[in-house]
Amino acid sequence: MLTRVPGLLFGGDYNPEQWPEEVWAEDARLMAEAGVNMATVAVFAWSRLEPRPGEYDFGWLDRVLDLLHAHGIAADLATATATPPPWLVRDHPEAMPVDAAGTRLEFGSRQGYCPSSPIYRAHAVRLARAMADRYGGHPALAMWHVGNEYADHTLECFCEESARHFRRWLTERHGDVAGLNAAWGTSCWGQHYTSIDQVNPPRKAPGPINPGQLLDWRRFCSDALLECFEAEKAVLRELTPDVPVTTNFMSLLPGLDYWRWAEAEDLVSDDAYPDPADPASHVATALSYDLMRSLKRRPWLLLESAPSAVSWREVNAPKPPGVMRLHSLQALAHGSDGVMFFQWRQAKYGPEKFHSALLPHGGTAARGWRDTLRLGDDLRNLHEIAGTGTDADVAIVFGWESLWGLEAPESMPSDRLRLKDLLLTWYRPLHERGVAVDLAPPGRDLSGYRLVIVPNLYLCTEEHAKALAAYGGRLIVGPFSGVVDAADQVHEGGAPGPLRDLLGVAVDEFWPLPDGETQSVRLVPGAVRPGTAEGGEPRLTARTWAEWVRVLDAEVVARYEGGELDGLPAITRKGGATYVSCLPEDVTPILDHALAETGVAPVAAVPPGVEATRRGGYLFLLNHTTEPARLALPAAGFDLLSRRRLDGEIVLAGRDAIVLRIEGEK
Ligand code: GAL
Repeated sequence: MLTRVPGLLFGGDYNPEQWPEEVWAEDARLMAEAGVNMATVAVFAWSRLEPRPGEYDFGWLDRVLDLLHAHGIAADLATATATPPPWLVRDHPEAMPVDAAGTRLEFGSRQGYCPSSPIYRAHAVRLARAMADRYGGHPALAMWHVGNEYADHTLECFCEESARHFRRWLTERHGDVAGLNAAWGTSCWGQHYTSIDQVNPPRKAPGPINPGQLLDWRRFCSDALLECFEAEKAVLRELTPDVPVTTNFMSLLPGLDYWRWAEAEDLVSDDAYPDPADPASHVATALSYDLMRSLKRRPWLLLESAPSAVSWREVNAPKPPGVMRLHSLQALAHGSDGVMFFQWRQAKYGPEKFHSALLPHGGTAARGWRDTLRLGDDLRNLHEIAGTGTDADVAIVFGWESLWGLEAPESMPSDRLRLKDLLLTWYRPLHERGVAVDLAPPGRDLSGYRLVIVPNLYLCTEEHAKALAAYGGRLIVGPFSGVVDAADQVHEGGAPGPLRDLLGVAVDEFWPLPDGETQSVRLVPGAVRPGTAEGGEPRLTARTWAEWVRVLDAEVVARYEGGELDGLPAITRKGGATYVSCLPEDVTPILDHALAETGVAPVAAVPPGVEATRRGGYLFLLNHTTEPARLALPAAGFDLLSRRRLDGEIVLAGRDAIVLRIEGEK
């Protein structure tokens, strides 16, 4: 059980402090009517709970929690520390964050705190303690929600306090100034320090900043916020040892190393806001959901999503009928044990007054309310899937340190190589084929997988390389991998550094392609599955990136064709390990070959736009198109949504879904 509530969770952020008390009874009644069983409460309520230093006003929250409980609704109770109140900021202006140019930010929004501020931390921990003292025994309490979306607005602060904290962190990491100088390569551009006290955060400087400094800064910022989370968690653990603690992640957020964060969480929760205007957004969403499931290798919780439009894009497209349901089912399909929303009642004021909600401005007469009721019914019908897991034969290796290194500004061969694009290059066709995928951090034991794909491992340590070599199975490594060590220093002999023996190649030069330019890649006949070679030699088209590769002891699978690299190896293979030195638009010939070779089977054969996943003995089929899709079920079963037995060939309506309890598999 993910929290103290059995079955699937359904509900959303509830901000009763924005409404007169007369409204609350209606809220609770309608929540119960819709089947809501959990509400996230008090996320931004610090200024209402502690209106003056150390003076608490819990009365209203007592009544809210009692009311929820009386209606059978549990609370994901926030520690309320996401936005410090005005008195704290006025008494301690130094607790507000400072940007890279040295401007101290003002009060008037949210998340106004310096992550390193001892004042913020002490007050946050004090409030968390007061909340746990007050509500630790409340029967509505199902889980703790610490902070909110760490790094959403405030990832970094460049103030003096942060500088001192950074220096302590650096001393711990590098030992002394000599260690720091060596790691950062400060002999370059005359940056040799004689004391760590001379080091500052990477504030705005005349030119590009030392990439070693930037990489450590990224690590530090992730760690500094994690310390904030952990400080509150320690208090909650002490006072309420049995109540699970989470903080809501933000999918593939670049700022925080969620592999590290997940270790500190009792359960992983995520907020996802795919753009309804983007017909392909469900693919990137599926990737981030698979990441969430992989972080702790167990069910997670979609803690925020939008019933329809958000309010923070330049243009905020609503979700057409059926899409809210479909997107919700997608989260379940990828291992979430519930569907929660931002927010319960649509706001009357503030920056989010046009953000959709489960209970829209138009009330129960509005079309959104029908969606809310329908989803409540669906979730009741699906309760038995809670707790089931996903078995994947394919793993994609991904780590934040490579992302940070790869995306450092103004020091790369090309700033067009983005790790998310690289991930999607491989993930998209796997997803289209209905192949289950786990994500794994660099260095993890991969022995359970039949196929491992490393779209990029720019930052590759000896340990990372050892884990890949130890895996020994079918492996595909993408371009610009094995380039630097943990300090962002180029490996001796150049790329792919510690992966050289495994891949059997050396990269002599990176050959980034200008925008709009393509590079043809010709597969060597016989190197791919015969079917793909029909009608002549298959060609791939690469964009963005290519490399001048020298083969050491690998076989050439494909060569560059035309241009300066004409005839040089583009894709190579040594034993089970393939190296792809470019970024093909379409990797399916390589992928299909690897899938066939390893016998990795899809969950179900699906037409384009239909997503197929498995959880335990349940098959999810989601039609993301607006057209009916015809497909053959791999097995007979009972559809939990339509409550019908299905078998053989079926037609799945546009934006509709099936959740099949497969016969004989339970
Ligand atoms: C999230 C945030 C919520 C709300 C929501 C709107 O980032 O956690 O408080 O602002 O976005 O989409």
